[in-house]
Amino acid sequence: MSTQSLAPASSKKPEDAQFTAYVVDDASREIIDQVARELVIPRASIRKGSIRTAIDALGQQRSPKILIVDLSNSELPLSDVNELAEVCEPGVTVIAIGDRNDVGLFRELLNSGVSDYLVKPLSTALVQRSLLATVDGEARARQTNRLGRLVATVGTRGGVGTTMLATSLAWTIANDRRRRVALLDLDLQFGSVALALDLEPTHGLREALENAGRIDSLYIDRTMARYSDTLFVLSAEEEIGDAVDIDPRALELLVSELRNKYHYLIADLPEPMSPMAQGIVQNATHLVLVTDLSLAGMRDTLRISQAALQANASCQLTVVVNRAGEHRAGEIAVAEFEKAIARPIDVIVPFDPKTVAAAMNVGRPVSRDRGRVATAIGRVADRLTGTTSKRDGGLLGRMLQRKG
Ligand SMILES: Nc1ncnc2c1ncn2[C@@H]1O[C@H](COP(=O)(O)OP(=O)(O)OP(=O)(O)O)[C@@H](O)[C@H]1O
Ligand SMILES: [Mg+2]
Repeated sequence: MSTQSLAPASSKKPEDAQFTAYVVDDASREIIDQVARELVIPRASIRKGSIRTAIDALGQQRSPKILIVDLSNSELPLSDVNELAEVCEPGVTVIAIGDRNDVGLFRELLNSGVSDYLVKPLSTALVQRSLLATVDGEARARQTNRLGRLVATVGTRGGVGTTMLATSLAWTIANDRRRRVALLDLDLQFGSVALALDLEPTHGLREALENAGRIDSLYIDRTMARYSDTLFVLSAEEEIGDAVDIDPRALELLVSELRNKYHYLIADLPEPMSPMAQGIVQNATHLVLVTDLSLAGMRDTLRISQAALQANASCQLTVVVNRAGEHRAGEIAVAEFEKAIARPIDVIVPFDPKTVAAAMNVGRPVSRDRGRVATAIGRVADRLTGTTSKRDGGLLGRMLQRKG
C-alpha cells in the first residue's frame, strides 16, 4: 500500500469536492473506491454512471479537482469528452476509463486534454499510478488542459465605454452562453464595474495584488462578489491617492488561478500601457479594443493594437467602435477609419443613451435590455466564444446596422 497521499497541502473549502468518479460497473467502482481510501483522498465521491451522467451533473455544480469518467457505453467518446470539457471548469484533471484497447483513441483522448486513459479491467496499481501521476504532473497537465480564455478590454481613452462593454460582454457570455465568467476590474481606485452591476466592491483584491503569498483558491473565492451562478466579480474601491504597489507575480498568479476556475476571465483595464495592463495583455487570448470614431481614437487604435500584437502575436484582436452616431457630423467615416488602422472594425455599437443610461444608472448590464446595443455586444461575444454570427453582414451590414 502506498504511503503517499493526495490530501492537499492547504485547507480547502469543505464543500468543494476534490475527487469524483462516474463509473458504470461495480468491479471498477470497488477498485477506485479502494484506491481513494488508500490514498486518503479527502471528499472523494465514487458514483454509478457513465460520462453522460458526469456531463449532466457537472453542468449543474462545481467541478472537482480530479475527475474519472467511464467511456464504456459511449458511442462517440471524443465528442462526449469535448462536451464534458464544455461543462467542466477548465483546470480539472480528467482520467478516462473504458473497455476499448485502442492506441488511436488513447492518443486522441490525450489530445483532447484527458490526462490518462485506463483500459478495463482495472487494477488498484493501475488506478493508483494514474492518480499519483496527475498530482506529480499537475503543472504540466495544467498547461495541456484547457485554461479559461483571458479577455483584455481596453479603451483608446477614458469614457469611451470600456466598462459598459466589459460588463455587458461578461453578462452575455455568462447568461446567454452559460459559461463561468470572472470579471476583474483593475482600476482599483476609480473602477466602476461593481457599480455597473449593482454590487458592493469586494475587499481583498488589493491585498492579493500586493502579496502573492495571499493568493490561493479559497482566498479568491472569498474575495469575489457573486452576480449570478455563472458571473463573479473582483473589484476594489481603494482610497484616492493611496499608492498601490502591485507585485507582478501576484497578478500572474491571480490570473492563472482564475483561468483554472472560469471559462472566461474578462479584465477591464484602465490604462492600456500601465505595467499591470501590459501583464494582462501579454497573456491575453483576446483583446477587445474600444474606441470612438474620433481622430485621437483612430490614431490610438492603431498604436495600441500594434503595441499589443507586438507583445502578444497570438492574441485575437477585436476592434469595437462604441457610441457610434453620437457626433454624426464630426465622426470619421468607417471606411477612412478602417483604412487608417489597416484592418476592419469588427463591431459597431450604436450610441443609445436612453437604453445605456437607463441600465447603467441602476446597475443593470446593458445587454439585459436587449435592443441594438445588446445585439452588437452579442457579436463581440460571438467572436470571443468562437461562434459565428449570421447577422454580421460585413461592412455594409455593419453600416446599415449603425444607421438602423
Ligand atoms: N453605446 C453607448 N450609448 C450611449 N451611452 C454610452 C454608450 N456606451 C457608454 N455610454 C455611456 O458613456 C459613459 C462612460 O461609459 P463607461 O463607464 O463604460 O466608459 P469607460 O470607458 O469605462 O470610462 P472610464 O474611463 O471612466 O473607465 C457612461 O455614462 C455610459 O452610460
Ligand atoms: Mg471604465
